[in-house]
Amino acid sequence: MPFTGKLDGNIVVVGLQWGDEGKGKVVDRWAAAADAVVRYAGGANAGHTLQVGDETKVLHLVPSGALHAHLVCVVGQGTVIDPAVLLEEVEWMRRRGLLAWNRLRLSDRAHVVLPHHKVVDALRESGERPIGTTRRGIGPCYEDKAGRRGVRIEDLLHPERLRELVEAAQEHWRPWVEARGGELPDVEETVRHYAALGERLAPHVCDTSRWVDDALRSGKKVLFEGAQGVMLDVDHGTWPFVTSSYAVAGGAAVGAGLGPQRIDRVVGVAKAYTTRVGRGPFPSEMEDPLGERLREAGGEYGATTGRPRRCGWLDLVALRYAVQVSGIDWLALTKLDVLDGFEELRLCVGYEGVDAAPGDFPARGLADARPVYETLPGWTGSVQGCAERSALPDEARAYLERIERFVGVPIGYVGLGAARGASLGTADVFAEA
Ligand code: IMP
Repeated sequence: MPFTGKLDGNIVVVGLQWGDEGKGKVVDRWAAAADAVVRYAGGANAGHTLQVGDETKVLHLVPSGALHAHLVCVVGQGTVIDPAVLLEEVEWMRRRGLLAWNRLRLSDRAHVVLPHHKVVDALRESGERPIGTTRRGIGPCYEDKAGRRGVRIEDLLHPERLRELVEAAQEHWRPWVEARGGELPDVEETVRHYAALGERLAPHVCDTSRWVDDALRSGKKVLFEGAQGVMLDVDHGTWPFVTSSYAVAGGAAVGAGLGPQRIDRVVGVAKAYTTRVGRGPFPSEMEDPLGERLREAGGEYGATTGRPRRCGWLDLVALRYAVQVSGIDWLALTKLDVLDGFEELRLCVGYEGVDAAPGDFPARGLADARPVYETLPGWTGSVQGCAERSALPDEARAYLERIERFVGVPIGYVGLGAARGASLGTADVFAEA
């Protein structure tokens, strides 16, 4: 579908780097013109920060844009749900009059993160080959799902079945956990607690794929909000240093339960530089004072774990790859203002020392990659407050144009600061649609 500048279809918003690209803010911007936002992958490992008056709240499971009072928030079956986290978030918002319960739809088929998943995650992370997970039990929960021994939201509503499933899953993990000196949670206590949580969630549980289908048939506008970023995708990311779900745009079809042809447009969100939390290769990482400057200027500390994020220059090779595997129509480039005042800016345009054609993103060996940089002049003054692209400093425009040329898709949105409206580009048109 050609781009018309209106929210005239269903849009998937995905992160193109290692998460934390600022998807929440982009989704929030467009949610004004949408009828529903659907989360389709990941779980409480994700986090987006809400600023409500002088209170700050990190939401992990409630979709972005939830502050728009008309919006239905859907948590689809491709996600993994920690019911206590979800309930706490909804209650927090409800008490402040921000989210009525009737705006939430939760998939009956989504898998449940159970206490033993967190035990396994923590044991692994304190073992010999940690990857720096968020320790929210995400990987082990997806493992139980793929291993056909998980618990789904609908099971919470049937305590007898729940007990059998929890027991079976724990039996699977018991030898592994005990061999590492760990202890599994009490089954009865887990069943009692989770059945009670299930009762509270029950009124909001439904077949969300059916709900989305009905919404699309009746002409409603739906945003699909990706979690994490393409480089953390279980298939397409820097495996094995990845999360356990589909962060690519195609994950929306799988995780929300709809045909790919129902998605009209895919928008990719990338920071104007790169960050990563947790371990894994990161060729353009800056372990120097400039990297530290980026971290401080960008407030680069994990929303979920508080960990300092690793920072580096924008990696165009990785970005072009992410654009390709997600079929991006256009880019939302966030946090350009963080680059204010840098004398020079570097863009990674190739890798040396890897077994891949120049410009290609390698399947392995990225840890040995030596980045090849192009250097562009930075700008003086600030991009904040610029109302149009033409008002940006020449050097900032040149930076955007170089990215577009390399990656092959246009930049339709530029983030210029922390405030809710601090951006320029087509997003403004969307919000007015
Ligand atoms: P897990 O998803 O907790 O299993 O963590 C696997 C990897 O994904 C780790 O490197 C995490 O730091 C990373 N990760 C998971 N969720 C996010 C996120 O929302 N933002 C950034 N990194 C994430």
